[in-house]
Order: sequence, then structure tokens, then C-alpha cells
Amino acid sequence: MGNRSHSNAGHRAMNALRKRGGVHASEKLALKTGAHTTHHAVVTADCLDLLSRLPDGSVQLIVCDPPYNIRLAHWDDHADYLAWASKWLAEAQRVLAPTGSLALFGGLQYQAEAGSGDLLTLIQHLRKHSSMLLANLIVWNYPNGMSAQRFFANRHEEIAWFGKTSKYYFDLDAVREPYDEATKAAYRKDKRLRPESVEKGRNPTNVWQMARLNGNSKERVGHPTQKPREVIQRLVRALSYPGSVVLDFFAGSGVTARVAIEEGRHSVTCDAEAVSREYLKKQLGMMTVARRRATSALAYEVRDGLDQSHPVFRRAEPAVLNDSGIGAALNP
Ligand SMILES: C[S@@+](CC[C@H](N)C(=O)[O-])C[C@H]1O[C@@H](n2cnc3c(N)ncnc32)[C@H](O)[C@@H]1O
Repeated sequence: MGNRSHSNAGHRAMNALRKRGGVHASEKLALKTGAHTTHHAVVTADCLDLLSRLPDGSVQLIVCDPPYNIRLAHWDDHADYLAWASKWLAEAQRVLAPTGSLALFGGLQYQAEAGSGDLLTLIQHLRKHSSMLLANLIVWNYPNGMSAQRFFANRHEEIAWFGKTSKYYFDLDAVREPYDEATKAAYRKDKRLRPESVEKGRNPTNVWQMARLNGNSKERVGHPTQKPREVIQRLVRALSYPGSVVLDFFAGSGVTARVAIEEGRHSVTCDAEAVSREYLKKQLGMMTVARRRATSALAYEVRDGLDQSHPVFRRAEPAVLNDSGIGAALNP
């Protein structure tokens, strides 16, 4: 029997729609390109304080890399982890737009050490207490990690991607992996394959082979659990669109804000530790170097704190189709 999760009625209907040349409603959201200034609010606060200030349905993507309760730092020790996590998970669902997504980082291997701080516990909780849909469990597979003697050395973490509703936005074309020339030449001869699909490249699948940051990685800004820019970039490109709002309320190194700037999204980022701002400054310094090399620079504004002028407070507009069938963005 095939993989039930990917042979369900919704999946078959989607394939049939594509064969008829149709597109899913979420794909009609705009890709607002061109010059526009993006806004980036940087907040030092408890995540629940920040979340309580955000309007319902105002955020397109939440990048969420919580403490795993493995006592890595003083912020990583919760006596009742699930009771705490259930509060920000409920708030995350509330602030997401109907097209929005939650990308929840975690591991499965921490249970013995930490009790209830692992991703399985959070997924199980969401299945019982939330209407969000698990779109993919992404396996982030890295070649570099600790050695082990009593078990197989761990080389993966997971990212549970939840869509708020079945109308979640997903831009596969933004993250396809190009085929090499030899593969393209072979596929072009295969009459069953559409030439435009061959040109676009392959679906990167839900197994992402991307290195973790080593101690001496150039990307490092000093945060102990900093995630690679490449991982965040794929999430931002696929699950949000230019001009939409990306939220990270466990911001750490500031990598999400950096990627949001680079990709033309607005952002709200928050961390309980003030040092997070220093990390972000370093990120911006590195980004400026990259921007100077880029031909088209994006304008952006980074502000301390969150005020009512931020796009997250603009009323979400429903998608409006233009002549080419592409819609106007929410939170433009
Ligand atoms: C796993 S790290 C996030 C790392 C980040 N994704 C990165 O790539 O740099 C978790 C972060 O959550 C912050 N944190 C812990 N408890 C918090 C809370 N209650 N509210 C806001 N931030 C919190 C910590 O200071 C830490 O920086």
C-alpha cells in the first residue's frame, strides 16, 4: 500500500486540478516584487507578552525554534514544559493568517533527558488541541554532529510544518532544485515529462541535507543554537510571499530577521534576552556585505520595539486577482 498521507483525497484532487491547468486558491496570492521598503520590529520581551499584542490573522509565517528543555542555557529549563508551550502554540494559531504556516523546530531524541520538551509531545498536543494541519514533517539531515558510543550518532532534527488551514500558501517554484544539464537532457527526451517542469527543477522533498553551523562558521554571531541561514531561507521562500509578515518569537541570533530583509518580507522578531539585539547587529553587518554585491538592493527599516505603524497592524485584505491571475498580497 502506498503512503497514505500522500494519497489522500485532498492530494488526488490537487493533482487533478493541476492536470486541468488550475491552481490552488493559496497560489493566487501575490508575489509582490519590485522595490518596496520592508519593516522589521525587534522586541526584547517574553514571547507571550509580544504575542498578546499581535492582531488575529496578521502573520503569514512563524519560524519557531523554541527552547527544547534540555538545560542548554538558563532559558532552557521548564518544570512543566507542555503547560508553557501550549500557551504560545495557541497564540501562534490565533495570529496566523488563514494562508499562514507554523514551522516548528525540534528533535525527537531528547525525551529521556528532558521529560516533555520534545517535538513529538508538541505535535501530539497540536493534534489534540488545534485545528492546524501537519503539512510535512521535514527532516533536516546534517553531515556534521557529535559522535556517540551507545547509540547511532544523531544527524537530523525535525521541522514540523503546520498550515493554519487547508488554504496554506506554498510556493514550490521558489525552492525547486535545478537539475544538472545531463539530467535535463535525458528528461527532455521523456515524453511523459512536461518541458517546463524539467526547466523548473525538482521538488526538494521533505529531507533537507544542509550542514549545521560549525563553531568556526562564518555565519556564527555567538548564539549557542543558531540555525543556518539556508534552512530559514527555504522556509521563508516557500511559506511566505514578498510583503507578508514573518514572525519569530524565539529569535536568538536574529537569522530570521536577516532572511526576511533579504527576501523582501516584513518581520517581527522577539527574544527574552537583550543580547539578541547584538546578534542581529552582527547579522545586519554581514548582510550589508552581501547586499553591496547584489545588483538590486532592497530598502528596509529595522526598529527597536513594535508600534502601530508596523505592517502587522494593517488590516489583512483578501486576495484580489489581477489580469494575470495573480492576486494582491495580504499585508502588502
Ligand atoms: C533555540 S533558541 C532560538 C535560536 C534561533 N532560532 C537561532 O537560529 O538563532 C531559543 C531562544 O528563545 C529565547 N527564549 C527563551 N525563553 C523565551 C521566552 N519566554 N520568550 C522569548 N524568548 C525566549 C532564548 O533566549 C533563545 O535565544
